[in-house]
Amino acid sequence: MTAIRTENLCKTYGGGMNRNETAAVRMLNLEVREGEIFGFLGPNGAGKTSTIHLLLNLLRPTSGAAYLFEQPITDPKIHQRLGYLPESVNLHDYYNGRGLLHFYAALSGVPVSAREARITELLKLMNLEAAADKRVSKYSKGMAQRLGFAQALLHNPDLLILDEPTASLDPVGRKEFRDVLVELKGQGKTIFISSHILSEVESICDRVAILQNGELKRVGTLAELSAGKGAKLSVKSLPPPVQEALMATTAEVTFAGGQITIHCPTEALRQTVETLLRQNQVEIIRQENEAQSLEEIFFSTITPPPKLS
Ligand SMILES: Nc1ncnc2c1ncn2[C@@H]1O[C@H](COP(=O)(O)OP(=O)(O)OP(=O)(O)O)[C@@H](O)[C@H]1O
Ligand SMILES: [Mg+2]
Repeated sequence: MTAIRTENLCKTYGGGMNRNETAAVRMLNLEVREGEIFGFLGPNGAGKTSTIHLLLNLLRPTSGAAYLFEQPITDPKIHQRLGYLPESVNLHDYYNGRGLLHFYAALSGVPVSAREARITELLKLMNLEAAADKRVSKYSKGMAQRLGFAQALLHNPDLLILDEPTASLDPVGRKEFRDVLVELKGQGKTIFISSHILSEVESICDRVAILQNGELKRVGTLAELSAGKGAKLSVKSLPPPVQEALMATTAEVTFAGGQITIHCPTEALRQTVETLLRQNQVEIIRQENEAQSLEEIFFSTITPPPKLS
């Protein structure tokens, strides 16, 4: 089953009398599978938060439709399976951390008998035990973010929608957060996460989508999106005639640490080099395909904004 599905989803802000329209989401067709961690990427203003607000039914689409677990997003029952962490966490700051979670636990229907244990468990998971009795107004940004995440998890939702969840966290907090997401995925949860931190997305996401100007540019696993940067072949020795033949190609030969590596920038060249080596009885001791990093995929996907003059 799909956890999220959109059909030609569009959102245009403004218009009407002032004609000042912004098409934030354009004909978006997206499918997020149950149980995956899905990264939602795109430059500032790409339409990520607008899409998330549409999925949460906080915004009405201009046209198109969206479904959570195959139910229309307008069905309030489906919201019980959803946890959400917004881009900027605004919490009632006259509570202390534990009190605030009790307030939200009551709102989200956690049974009274289960509340204390659930809240203690989440405070521990979010490393907030020491701050549990401190007023939220005294929390740092990162602490507020952690408390916001605990709040999103209170009712044990099946789907988590997180809008730039680690923006305020320190490096230790980010690592802990990634570990929590992987643990939640292990429990069968689906996680939809928008982020500008590509290394983070690369390390935890099963699939990613890249959005620009409200349009879906690419979607898939890293392996699917990687254009491939060719391959590296390692050999023990290279007879001079083979070296000469290689110099006539665009393959690059490096000698380092007693190892000879032939870097072939394209698949066609890899095949040619492999044939050449085999014909000359040169043993290939290792072959590695070189995939693009998410950063390389991202920059090759988005068109740069016009330069300011
Ligand atoms: N309430 C609004 N009224 C009018 N235009 C809006 C509104 N909210 C967003 N926009 C516009 O819609 C477009 C998409 O904005 P959105 O906030 O969805 O982008 P984003 O991908 O979340 O960006 P960021 O990475 O900066 O958070 C932008 O051009 C933005 O100016
Ligand atoms: Mg945003």
